[in-house]
Amino acid sequence: MSDIKTICLKAFEDKFGAKPQMQEYAPGRVNIIGEHTDYNGGFVLPCAIKYGTCMVAKENGSNKMRILAVDMNNDYDEFEIAPKIEKHPTKLWVNYLRGVTYQLAQKFGDKVKGLDIAIKGDVPPGAGLSSSASLEVCFGHLVSSAFGLNVPLMDIALMGQAAEAYIGMKCGIMDQAISANGTVDHLVRIDCKSYGLTQVAVPKDLVILIINSNIKHQLVGSEYNDRRESCEKAASIMGVPLLRDATMEMLEKFKDKMDDVTYRRARHVITEDQRVLDASKAFESGDLKTLAKLMYASHVSMRDDFEITVKETDALVEIVKEALGEEYAAVRQTGGGFGGCVVAVVEPKNVQKVKDAVNAKYKAVSGIDATIFETTACAGATFTKL
Ligand code: GLA
Repeated sequence: MSDIKTICLKAFEDKFGAKPQMQEYAPGRVNIIGEHTDYNGGFVLPCAIKYGTCMVAKENGSNKMRILAVDMNNDYDEFEIAPKIEKHPTKLWVNYLRGVTYQLAQKFGDKVKGLDIAIKGDVPPGAGLSSSASLEVCFGHLVSSAFGLNVPLMDIALMGQAAEAYIGMKCGIMDQAISANGTVDHLVRIDCKSYGLTQVAVPKDLVILIINSNIKHQLVGSEYNDRRESCEKAASIMGVPLLRDATMEMLEKFKDKMDDVTYRRARHVITEDQRVLDASKAFESGDLKTLAKLMYASHVSMRDDFEITVKETDALVEIVKEALGEEYAAVRQTGGGFGGCVVAVVEPKNVQKVKDAVNAKYKAVSGIDATIFETTACAGATFTKL
């Protein structure tokens, strides 16, 4: 974080010729278990990671947001804060911010004023670690804090989610919710129906490893929305508002009324919800063997029923499983899918074993190297006056 802040400060001064008055930071996330359950009203178990987005800012006395994106080759955009804010025709990065401003302006009108902002992040893009959610939450929390709007963290998350919908991605609430509500040394179980948050301590003797397949996932695409439609279809066939409200018994009862794909999509979500609840317990009691069973089962379910894994992430999971032995292989693909990262929860003594195995075997499958890093569970959005 200190590196991106330093770069941000310098870029701000170069562009706007003044010192910023405030700073905001919001992290990316890794999801330990509970995939594609959020928009079904179910449970997820993510934590905030050590990478995120930093913004430094200053009030500019106008009704314009003037924004410098250091990571986009110092690309710049400005737009008026108005009741209706159009999308930029080509700059995706700023549309996340236009989308959040639109939400804020609708709710708070002219209390939302102009800021000069420089942005820099270090969440690897396209890795399924929520670089866009961290951007939205960072910006929403910055504006709320700058103008004393006191928007509750979960409402900031909802505005980020709405910004994704504005761009065309009908995502759930997980990424924004954890970026806003991350808690040091804790996973946060999110009940995506009630928005209730439960902290689950990460045992001191377990390490969270993230292995990036370096196969980019692109979520603003049809596959994600297509999965969501299948889930909605299954819920409607069973006569429940959300798959969260269905059980495996109900699904079996309605099996004949749905096609095989819809059935398997629903089976993933219903069984995954239960795995999240069980995994929370396993974490609390430091039961790595149970966690391993649940995380691997989650991967298999994503691979065979939800069909969102790719051969490279499947290979990474098998490589880790082989290195640690089945009993201790708490490993699965994480995030929206179609590439991105694998997450593993391992004992410190096994970290090197996993790294060695991945370095030795992954390239033969994928033609490229994987990137591996450890993270602790980190804090959520944080505003600081400079
Ligand atoms: C993406 C979405 C989330 C969630 C995950 C899958 O990260 O933004 O809302 O649906 O995929 O669990």
